[in-house]
Amino acid sequence: MRVAAFISGRGSNMLALADACADPDFPAELSLVLSNEADAPGLAAAAARGIAVEAVPHRPFAGDREAHERTIDAVLTRERIELVCLAGYMRLLTPWLVERWRDRMINIHPSLLPAFKGLDTHGRALAAGVRWHGCTVHVVRAAMDEGPIVAQAAVPVADDDDAHTLGARVLEQEHRLYPHALSLIASGAARVAGERVILHPHALPSPALNPPEAP
Ligand code: GRF
Repeated sequence: MRVAAFISGRGSNMLALADACADPDFPAELSLVLSNEADAPGLAAAAARGIAVEAVPHRPFAGDREAHERTIDAVLTRERIELVCLAGYMRLLTPWLVERWRDRMINIHPSLLPAFKGLDTHGRALAAGVRWHGCTVHVVRAAMDEGPIVAQAAVPVADDDDAHTLGARVLEQEHRLYPHALSLIASGAARVAGERVILHPHALPSPALNPPEAP
């Protein structure tokens, strides 16, 4: 399966996907890394690994989001992309692109959805006093951070956590979760059925994705 990752910044999740895809037995290939920021550090990191990269800056489109996305979509078609992985792509997508890639676009979000959609998820989790936090890979729908859930990983919240320490613990899980979720989709072990994702019985998420120790 030919996969594109969309990034806007450092691209650590994209690199985790690239590492997984480097295994010849992995069911997907990271064929393209695309960014709306030409100087995104992740773009240079992907290029250094020999992955095709493309910058499609949004600013020249002066607020015409759909025109920006039509350009992106043309790149995806040209590269014969079959699945898009949003990985820290900091632009809201229009319903046009989301519908065009319906059930063929996934996202990673640093919370246990449906809790804490949007930004500053770690600070908000701490303020809410939750004992468990984590990350979610979901199929993209038009509403932000909504859509059928493919996989989740939970991390315990420690009493002395701040947003930085908690975020670092979640990010570690993101780097394990995203390749796992991608392999579920690319192998056909996970399929979208309406607003749910159905897992093949032999493809239950590895228990290693959740730390065994309680908070
Ligand atoms: C990650 O926390 C991801 O969950 C969120 O944006 C961040 C991107 O980080 N969507 P990176 O660019 O993958 O390092």
